[in-house]
Amino acid sequence: MDVKHLFAEELEKKLKDSLNFETILTMIEKPKQEDMGDLAFPCFVLAKTFRKPPKEIAEELAQDLDALWVEEAESVNGYLNIHLKRKPIAEAVLKEIATKQSSYGEANIGQGEVMTLDLSSPNIAKPFSMGHLRSTVIGNAIALIAEKCGYKPIRINHLGDWGTQFGKLIVAYQKWGDPEKVRAQPIKELLELYIKFHKEAESNSSLEDEGRKAFKDLEAGDAEALKLWKWFREESLKEFNKIYELLGVSFDAVQGEAFYNDKMAAVVKQLEEKQLLEPSEGAMVVPVGENHPPCLIKKKDGTTLYATRDLAAAIYRHQTYHFSKSLYVVGNEQTLHFQQLKVVLEKMGYEWASEMKHVPFGMMLKDGKKMSTRKGKVVLLEDVLNDAIELAKASIDEKNPELEDKGAVARQVGTGAVIFHDLKHHRMGDVEFSLEDMLKFEGNTGPYIQYTHARAASLLNKGGYTTTDVVSLNDEDEAWSIIKYLADFPEAVQRSLNDYDPSLIAKYLFDLSKAFNKYYANVRILEDPERLNVVFAIKTVLKEGLRLLGIKAPDAM
Ligand code: ARG
Repeated sequence: MDVKHLFAEELEKKLKDSLNFETILTMIEKPKQEDMGDLAFPCFVLAKTFRKPPKEIAEELAQDLDALWVEEAESVNGYLNIHLKRKPIAEAVLKEIATKQSSYGEANIGQGEVMTLDLSSPNIAKPFSMGHLRSTVIGNAIALIAEKCGYKPIRINHLGDWGTQFGKLIVAYQKWGDPEKVRAQPIKELLELYIKFHKEAESNSSLEDEGRKAFKDLEAGDAEALKLWKWFREESLKEFNKIYELLGVSFDAVQGEAFYNDKMAAVVKQLEEKQLLEPSEGAMVVPVGENHPPCLIKKKDGTTLYATRDLAAAIYRHQTYHFSKSLYVVGNEQTLHFQQLKVVLEKMGYEWASEMKHVPFGMMLKDGKKMSTRKGKVVLLEDVLNDAIELAKASIDEKNPELEDKGAVARQVGTGAVIFHDLKHHRMGDVEFSLEDMLKFEGNTGPYIQYTHARAASLLNKGGYTTTDVVSLNDEDEAWSIIKYLADFPEAVQRSLNDYDPSLIAKYLFDLSKAFNKYYANVRILEDPERLNVVFAIKTVLKEGLRLLGIKAPDAM
């Protein structure tokens, strides 16, 4: 039941050719105060066409607007304000949700086309950083939202597992490494070796050369170098997989940079044939226009670069998945890289390059500063998630000690808190990390939304609710603001796809939860069984909305 659409159709008929449907639809607003009406249409732009003041236009439109779903239409300050007929609309919305349940809000925007998403993509032999956490949860949510809107998402983990740094790491390991230590704590130990390499290199410049040579050997397939690299990679993946398991995220493909090792020569050859490559200080580059530095393709020593591998990856993805959209959920510090990538592919004649989209995001901060993994202080994400789960468990022990399956619920609440805290911010904004804030059961947090969902589940349980197609409601006035939010869910989903921004859904869920908790405080729900229809709709939409963010909704907590 999309009343905004109905309203726009009605206006289109009335306004004949002065404004088209799409324009009308985008012009329709929601009045700030509820008593002003449910929808409003500004008449100012029509003043010229009709040679009348907006006030009069609104009055005339109001006069012969007698659609079935309109209770009252009035002219207010140049706007046409509409009050909807609450009962039939409320019942229609509740019925639609009762029938469609978790498929409520589905759309067919993607028409079954493929959307590849490059997400997570941590660097092996290094800790999984907060930036990679952001990429993982934002990317996963976008994939879920896209899927709801009819796309077939393909999640690709473009691991940072190739490049000069692994030459350096191999050298460091051969000089100072201890296999036992690496086996015991791979990421910590490898990171320390890498840091030591840089420290030593400050006074010993030949180390850098050794590192470069080791990477050259690795690219050439040297057995010893490959063996070490494989080992580092496996150990790192074991650690990363623990995190993915906690977050409930999986991938369709784990194709790291090394995967493109045998696919780069063809790219370089194509660039040569198309005469796009130019020498620059011994290296080979593709110029990408006045405003950007050139894109580096090959180093002086013949080894390839991050960008070369991304070129090969983009081409491979198009050939393999025939995507209609290809997203890269990567921090905003890599904006230039993705601009260069797109320009080079366009120059190569790939039309699909226009469907590649960098989806950037801001930084995770601690006390206003970037959370660094580089120098010494390492925040291990696995520890962070486990801390969150512990805190959630403590709070369940206190609030609901009898709860069944406490461990599983604590995991859902703890990780849900971390994910929601990230996704509630517009993705471009920076996020201040605070375990304490994210685990509060009050305010704009994951646990608050989950708790509201559990409250709804418990009411349905107590009231002995069973699903039904005959939905009626007596207190449509009390429930009206909830009904309006419920009706808005499909639009919230589509807007978040459109902006590639899950925070729109997070905000929506917070608003819906607040509206429901207000209703709960004012109305004795169990006194009238019809009210359970509202509760069921709330539970359904909260659960589905949380699912789209990658968060579970336990029935009790
Ligand atoms: N591993 C990179 C990093 O941590 C991110 C890779 C992003 N994806 C890509 N296709 N370049 O900075």
